[in-house]
Amino acid sequence: MKHDLLTFSDWTPTQMQILLELAVTIKQHPADYSNVLGGRSIVAVFEKPSLRTRVSFEIGVHKLGGHLVYLDAQANSLVGREDIRDTAANLACWADAIIARVFAHNTLTTMAAAAKVPVINALCDKFHPCQALADYLTLYEQFGELKGRTLAYVGDGNNVTHSLLIVGALLGCNVISVTPQGHEADSAIFTLAQDIAKQTGARIEKSHAVEAIKGVDVLYTDTWLSMGDKTPLAAIKEKFMPYQVNETLFANSGARFVMHCQPAHRDLEITSRLIDSEASLLMQQAENRMHGQNAILTHLLAG
Ligand code: CP
Ligand code: NVA
Repeated sequence: MKHDLLTFSDWTPTQMQILLELAVTIKQHPADYSNVLGGRSIVAVFEKPSLRTRVSFEIGVHKLGGHLVYLDAQANSLVGREDIRDTAANLACWADAIIARVFAHNTLTTMAAAAKVPVINALCDKFHPCQALADYLTLYEQFGELKGRTLAYVGDGNNVTHSLLIVGALLGCNVISVTPQGHEADSAIFTLAQDIAKQTGARIEKSHAVEAIKGVDVLYTDTWLSMGDKTPLAAIKEKFMPYQVNETLFANSGARFVMHCQPAHRDLEITSRLIDSEASLLMQQAENRMHGQNAILTHLLAG
């Protein structure tokens, strides 16, 4: 039976830990994995722009001995040309897996049902699982054991927040999500993360108060306006500015590190100085996108 990677929500803590350690092993011993996708072809369909995800998948697949075909769904007018079920079923005739970045999570579940090969979520409106794997790999490299560590997510409750909550809960890492009123993480996903956390002892919390961010290990933020959100920046900037990850918040939080999935907007959600500071893990996160994804591909296609 084929397995998709859409959310990580149905994974066990043990499976998640094994995947994290596989990513470490692949990063440390790339030569041992240089042919795990030998002769395999992967298609990547992107409805939205991407730098990190696209390039890290393309180079990552190459490093595993496979071949990637990139389809820019917007530039090629693929969206709406035919039913997405037909697109997915056709791609599965030639490809061994489909990587998709889409607007609606529903598009991924429809593709996964129609395709006889694994579908991997490269970001949708609700989740960004590949990002969260890279982020916890980064923290695992810094701290070792993640149980008892605390990540404070500050800003807009979005796809990245949701995946950080789910994967953090699975790995036993405490996550506190601090957002303005009206921009909280999806309540059903938050509750799901709390349920998962019962297995690992992680604390999954939310707040509207930046003052609640005390004694944490890392501050994490993301854009205030995700791709596809047409809200003018001017309409939300005043509301979000108190949630900016800046030197004052960083000092008060007790955190050692700052994180951002990128693309970052310097001096909006995070200050330029923090991005360029010794506390910044941004480039380690970006590098780890490839190692995490290569672990996912190895697990799904050669596990
Ligand atoms: N972090 C991330 O997914 O970056 P891209 O949108 O550039 O792929
Ligand atoms: N929340 C952001 C993440 C970008 C990688 C977005 O969806 O645009």
